[in-house]
Amino acid sequence: MSASAPLIDPFQRAISYLRVSVTDRCDFRCVYCMSENMTFLPKADLLTLEELDRMCSAFVRLGVEKLRITGGEPLVRKGIMTFFNAMSRHLESGALKELTVTTNGSQLQRYAADLAAAGVKRINVSLDTLEVEKFARITRWGRLGQVLDGIEAARKAGLGVKINTVALKGVNEDELFPIVDWCAREGHDLTFIEVMPMGDMGEDNRLDQYWSLRDLRGRLSERFTLTDLAERTGGPARYVRLEETGQKIGFITPLTHNFCESCNRVRLTCTGELYMCLGQEDMADLRAPLRAGPDDAALENAIRAAIARKPKGHDFDYSRQSVTGQMSRHMSHTGG
Ligand code: GTP
Ligand code: 5AD
Ligand code: SF4
Repeated sequence: MSASAPLIDPFQRAISYLRVSVTDRCDFRCVYCMSENMTFLPKADLLTLEELDRMCSAFVRLGVEKLRITGGEPLVRKGIMTFFNAMSRHLESGALKELTVTTNGSQLQRYAADLAAAGVKRINVSLDTLEVEKFARITRWGRLGQVLDGIEAARKAGLGVKINTVALKGVNEDELFPIVDWCAREGHDLTFIEVMPMGDMGEDNRLDQYWSLRDLRGRLSERFTLTDLAERTGGPARYVRLEETGQKIGFITPLTHNFCESCNRVRLTCTGELYMCLGQEDMADLRAPLRAGPDDAALENAIRAAIARKPKGHDFDYSRQSVTGQMSRHMSHTGG
């Protein structure tokens, strides 16, 4: 196969989007993402920033056009700006169309301007509530004020901001309109996400927290006129416009609507594991072929072999009042 042949999986889906988790660590402990006492990977297991560069550059050579940096919390990884600055050469060459990040916002005051300078245009910030105490309860360790200041710093740096809100039954249901209004006022895009059964569910039963976006949408339409939009951002969200405010709202509905048929992405972890699907256990080790030698041939072959195994989709299912298709992995392992 030619070195430049694009990555096409067995279901004829072109893989053009790589999500890279640069650390499994985070300064928060969101209840649906991590347990309170997480054991993190030893630092020696992590790919170095140079190795991450080689890995991502191989994917870009094979046709990846969108790179999203995730975690854990990506901005707590030491030296992370060196990596962003290195990746900006692929933006300059035109090979990469978008370099972006999904963050909890806690470090944005420090890094927003550097991200913008590296060529990042818009960022996704996770925020499930605008109430100080509730924020502390959901994130366990987070402070709302710090995140809001971070978001403000991002805006000042000229970055577009999309807020990701996990819909949590009995937790942020009552804040649907306050969050929508706040985003309208601040000029942020907004996407709601259905909570997925990831990680040990322990005391927090994900089924109890599950608030279907079909319901949420119904609630929104009591106050607004919703128009479905055909627009896609290369992610799994489907969008509507609220006619009264002109706002665009996204819905990520892995449970009520399976979007796997148009999946264009794979996920690389900070130790060099490639997950071909967020909702399946199968993965390929890319660290061994990367470390086998300075030449990238073995790595490129391993990437192609992995893509050839990409499954059709996930098996998450909350029907029949029980959770099936659950993953033992925590979300922070693959960065969502
Ligand atoms: P844009 O569309 O570029 O804004 O990004 P995105 O929605 O792909 O990225 P983001 O990091 O904001 O993703 C939000 C969340 O959507 C992720 O953290 C996951 O929870 C969920 N998600 C993203 N991709 C997938 C996917 O392939 N499958 C499933 N089940 N969920 C996904
Ligand atoms: N279900 C849905 N979304 C989740 N996230 C983390 N864990 C889960 C889960 N179990 C979200 C975060 C963030 C993104 C990276 O993933 O809120 O927006
Ligand atoms: Fe950290 Fe994001 Fe997980 Fe919350 S959801 S613990 S901010 S990685």
